[in-house]
Amino acid sequence: MKKKTLEDIQVNGKKVLVRVDFNVPVQDGKITDDNRIIQALPTIKYLLEENAKVILLSHLGRIKKEEDLENNSLKVVSERLSELLDKPVNFVPETRGELLEKAINDMKPKDIVMMENTRFEDLEGKKESKNDPDLGKYWASLGDLFVNDAFGTAHRAHASNVGIASRLETAAGFLMEKEIRYIGSTVENPERPFVAILGGAKVSDKIGVIENLLKIADKVLIGGGMTYTFMKAQGLNIGNSIVELDKVDLAKSLLEQANGKIILPLDFAVAEEFSADSPYRYTDYKGIKDNEEGLDIGPKTIKMFKKELKGAKTVVWNGPVGVFEFENFAKGTQAICEILANLEDTRTIIGGGDSAAAAIQMGFKEKFTHISTGGGASLQFLEGKELPGIESIDHSIDCGCEGSDCEC
Ligand code: 3PG
Repeated sequence: MKKKTLEDIQVNGKKVLVRVDFNVPVQDGKITDDNRIIQALPTIKYLLEENAKVILLSHLGRIKKEEDLENNSLKVVSERLSELLDKPVNFVPETRGELLEKAINDMKPKDIVMMENTRFEDLEGKKESKNDPDLGKYWASLGDLFVNDAFGTAHRAHASNVGIASRLETAAGFLMEKEIRYIGSTVENPERPFVAILGGAKVSDKIGVIENLLKIADKVLIGGGMTYTFMKAQGLNIGNSIVELDKVDLAKSLLEQANGKIILPLDFAVAEEFSADSPYRYTDYKGIKDNEEGLDIGPKTIKMFKKELKGAKTVVWNGPVGVFEFENFAKGTQAICEILANLEDTRTIIGGGDSAAAAIQMGFKEKFTHISTGGGASLQFLEGKELPGIESIDHSIDCGCEGSDCEC
């Protein structure tokens, strides 16, 4: 069923609470990747152009103890946002109270207020993360309308998304809409051939995704550390490569279910040590020595993956196919980026997390149809699960039907 979007709500002169996901990496007080802030700009700019008073809420990191407060203030994020918008952002170092209320009451249309990290409310009793009803009610009382643009947080049912949404008219922001359009509709009804590429270190992190994609994809190409658990399940030699022995049986059953859909690598970059400068060579599985581990896919695999991807109408990629943090073992992941970037007439979607970080870091940001801003949220979306942050957004039309068949 279609969700309410920015075009369905009247924001002129209204106090609009906007939940964004500004949970960005910060090192020594500096933001090291501002992609999530950049991706939220279209919604913020639209609301400003439409004369709204924009009140931003976000979490940053996880707050368990008093010392976490200092390193997780959103002040640095408000400064970066102000630079990107070329406009003042009134940062209020509080999540409730007089200072915040006064700042909001003093707002004029086109003003922006950003409150402090919503998870500061977790210090006592996890109020934000446990969706405390009083907190959701209080935050909802600060605005007239709610816009949820925090796709990265959509798998959480917290006070600052679900709690507010249950009390105010709620619409999806542009980023949320885009994520639903690209990931949601692909999972529900992909244009075929649909090829999935799954990487990352562990099978255990991706069980739900593999199971769901095996149902809907035509092919599932496997790379990264999880390869070796699948190889072990087939009785193949993996040397000293990373393996989850307690998931070998599961991998066996996934291979059986897959009915030939799962494609494993043919060759690997192997090294004696897990380090950036460890000498390496390429070999097939038979050639992996007992003291060697696989750290990347090899050239034969890249060639084979290229062939499998040719002609695909939809490609979803989640998880790097090698240890991309080390230059020598980033070649497979780089090659996947290049192959996808050169596919014609193909919807290419990167399902967030490390593969999104790798693609952006390697300069392919503009080369894909969509790079998700979600980590856990995109994984759960790819698993076919309902996300509470999305579920709590109002429907634009109450047509009475539900599910993927509904065309309202
Ligand atoms: C993320 O980075 O995946 C989201 O911001 C959610 O963060 P969380 O895992 O701390 O809830």
